[in-house]
Amino acid sequence: MTAATLFTAGDAGAWQVEGIEACVGASLPEAAWLTVSVGVATPGAGPAWTLRGVTSNQRYTNRHEQPRLLAKQPPLDRPEATCAALIAIRKSAAWWALAQDERREILEERSHHIEIGLDYLPGVARRLYHSRDLGEPFDFVTWFEYPPEQAGAFDELLIRLRVTPEWEHVEREVDVRLAR
Ligand code: HEM
Repeated sequence: MTAATLFTAGDAGAWQVEGIEACVGASLPEAAWLTVSVGVATPGAGPAWTLRGVTSNQRYTNRHEQPRLLAKQPPLDRPEATCAALIAIRKSAAWWALAQDERREILEERSHHIEIGLDYLPGVARRLYHSRDLGEPFDFVTWFEYPPEQAGAFDELLIRLRVTPEWEHVEREVDVRLAR
């Protein structure tokens, strides 16, 4: 199995926490710094919180969307991408009880998640981590990196996604903004 990526918030790390906002449900404790590491917990004083997730295969992307994403999506860790967002999301039991094709229908045909997202590439780099099967408090950890001049566009993207039918199934969402 792929090693889990750990997002450890505390008093050390490469990313400085600029703000933690609870969009739906309970927030996460305040912390000043965040470390992203693969497989190993960061040593040191007890962290404020740690989230874990694994990268995985695509679940919903179809054969038309996949090449468009690949052609447009930038890599992580671009030197100019000094802003990041960690958005942790848990979806409802009703969402998970749906069949795969019903979830795809809500995510794309009704909410246009991928189509909307494509509008913000290549300004925003992204990675999706799955946490649900690790028994984590969130189902997903989503990670985004962008240059400061894309911050307004990133906020616009969130406004567009959060009013979609897909987001009616989001029962906890915490938005952590970071800078390095
Ligand atoms: C930057 C533009 C974005 C693009 C291009 C994009 C694209 C995608 C794609 C292609 C998938 C489906 C992956 C699969 O097939 O399994 C996906 C899933 C997901 N995205 Fe985005 N996305 C973007 C922004 C966002 C934002 C801003 C958020 C959070 C606020 C977000 C949260 C998620 C979540 C939680 C999933 C998993 C959904 C599920 O499996 O139920 N995405 N995204």
